[in-house]
Amino acid sequence: MYTSRITGMGKYVPENVVTNDDLSKVMDTNDAWIQERTGIKERRHIKKGDGNSTAVMGVKAAKIAIERAGISKDDIEMIVFATLSPDYYFPGCGVQVQDLMGIHTCPALDVRNQCSGFVYALSVADQFIKTGMYKNVLVIGSENHSGGLDFSTRGRGVTVIFGDGAGAAVISRSDKEGHGVLSTHLHSEGKHALELSLKGPSTNHWVPALIEENPQEDIPYYPYMNGQFVFKNAVVRFSEVIMEGLKTNGLEVTDIDMLVPHQANLRISQFIQKKFKLSDDQVYNNIQKYGNTTAASIPIALCEAWEEGKVKEGDTVVLAAFGSGFTWASAVIKW
Ligand code: UT7
Repeated sequence: MYTSRITGMGKYVPENVVTNDDLSKVMDTNDAWIQERTGIKERRHIKKGDGNSTAVMGVKAAKIAIERAGISKDDIEMIVFATLSPDYYFPGCGVQVQDLMGIHTCPALDVRNQCSGFVYALSVADQFIKTGMYKNVLVIGSENHSGGLDFSTRGRGVTVIFGDGAGAAVISRSDKEGHGVLSTHLHSEGKHALELSLKGPSTNHWVPALIEENPQEDIPYYPYMNGQFVFKNAVVRFSEVIMEGLKTNGLEVTDIDMLVPHQANLRISQFIQKKFKLSDDQVYNNIQKYGNTTAASIPIALCEAWEEGKVKEGDTVVLAAFGSGFTWASAVIKW
C-alpha cells in the first residue's frame, strides 16, 4: 500500500477587502457585534469585473500548489473540486479548471459537502493514491459567496460571516511509511439538512414556487442558517471527529502540533482549543482576515500556516471541519 502526502499548497483571495464597517453602511450591524460573536474583522469579496469566479480562483490557487509540488499540470491525474458555490448549476467547476489550465482528459470530480468539502475531497484523493490508481491528485476548495448573499439587514446573521477565496493542494504518492495522510474520517447527518441551506432556485424549488411556499419575510433564495443550532452541533462534532482521528492513530491530544479547524467562527475554534487544552501555537486561525470561506477555509488556513513556517516536516497536523448537511470530517497528517 502506498502513502499519500500533501506536496504543494496554494491559496488565492480576491484583492477587494470588505471590513465590518463597510457592511455596517449597508445593513444594521456593527464592528463590535461581528468581532465579538465571530472574531471576523474583514473578508474578501469578488468585485464585479475583476475576472474572478469560483473556478478562476481555484485555478489561481492550483497553479501555486502545482509549482510548489515541483510537478507540471501534465502530471495531474485527477481533479477533485469542492464548492457549494459553483459557477454553473452544471457542469461542475472541476472540468472548468481542467479547461482553464489545459489539463489532459483526466477525471474531474466535484464534491458537494460544503464546509467539510475540502476534507472530503482530500479523503477521495487519499483513497485513489493509496490504492495505487493515481500518483498526483489536485484538490481544490473554492467559494464565491458574496454574489449570493442578502446585503439587507434581513440577511445580517449570515452575510457578515462569509467570504470569498480558494485554496488548493497537490496530493502525491509517497513510499515513505508513517508519513502523509494517516487517516481521514467522514460523517454526515441528513436530518439537519435544512438548518444550514440554500433551498433554491433548484429543480425542486424554482423562484415562483419558493415565494409562494414561504412567508414574505423569509426569502429562500438566500442562504438560511439556524446559527445557534449549527453552533451547538459544531462544537460537539468537531470534538468527536478530532478524537476519532487521534484514536485511530494511537495519538493523544498532546501529540497535535497544529490543529487547522474549518474557520466557521473564532468562538468555535476557541471552544475546541480550550476543551483540548491546546496553546495558541497549536491552533491556526485566520477567520479574522477572510471570514468563513466554507470549502476554501481549511486549504487557505493550512497553506498560510505552512507559508508562515508553522507547519513543518514531521509535525502532526489535524484538520477538522463541520458544516451544512450536516457533514463533519477530520484528517490526521504527519507532515
Ligand atoms: O461554516 C458552517 C458552520 N457554521 C457555523 O458554525 C456558524 C455557527 N453559528 C454562529 O457562528 C453564530 O450562531 C452566529 C455568528 C451566526 C450568530 O451568533 P449568535 O451569538 O448565535 O447570535 P444570534 O443569532 O443568537 O443573535 C443574537 C442577536 C439577535 O438579536 P436579538 O434577537 O437578541 O435582539 C440578532 O438579531 O444578534 C442579532 N444579530 C446581529 N446584530 C448585529 C444577528 N446578526 C447580527 C449582526 N449584527 N450581523
